[in-house]
Amino acid sequence: MARFLLGAIAFCLLAISANARVQGQGQDFEIHGHVYCDPCRLQFKTNLSYPLDAMQLKIECKNRDNKTTTFTSETKSRPDGYFVVKVPGDHEEDICEAILTPNKHPQCNEIMATRDRDQVSLADNAGVVGNVRYTNDLFYMTKDADNRCEAIYESLWDDVSEQDY
Ligand SMILES: *[C@@H]1O[C@H](CO)[C@@H](O)[C@H](O)[C@H]1NC(C)=O
Ligand SMILES: *[C@@H]1O[C@H](CO)[C@@H](O)[C@H](O)[C@H]1NC(C)=O
Repeated sequence: MARFLLGAIAFCLLAISANARVQGQGQDFEIHGHVYCDPCRLQFKTNLSYPLDAMQLKIECKNRDNKTTTFTSETKSRPDGYFVVKVPGDHEEDICEAILTPNKHPQCNEIMATRDRDQVSLADNAGVVGNVRYTNDLFYMTKDADNRCEAIYESLWDDVSEQDY
């Protein structure tokens, strides 16, 4: 019985490591992320941020050294702001980015210089298990801040004051 159990455990371990290897070959990476509107022009998520549907994103991989584009793709965010893009192959030599493109949203269409893109590493040796990579949240801003942002600015100011004094 003990021998059988050991055999079964060894078999499982083999199966797991084989599976890890297959995953590790990175035939298909997936980039996941969220697109939000920031109506307070703070460049981070607040309780007034809301997800943006049908926002067009560009995925771009470029060679680190000579900046040659090795992969491009486009996708749209879902109603909950979520997006998923499949990127075939290992991109160890590349820098891959998810980038927001100009949109026609009636309120929320200003691109934020710093929060319109994020880099991910699509390499097996990135020290991340599995083939899913998450970007930071990406934001568009409204031209004018929402009136309700006042309360948020105040609470931020309170936090800062408490820390500094
Ligand atoms: C850029 O570098 C990659 C990797 O070294 C190489 O395969 C590719 O041919 C290079 N492209 C150009 C245009 O030099
Ligand atoms: C959002 O956060 C602010 C500041 O923390 C708070 O005053 C406000 O009541 C919150 N609004 C909602 C809708 O939760």
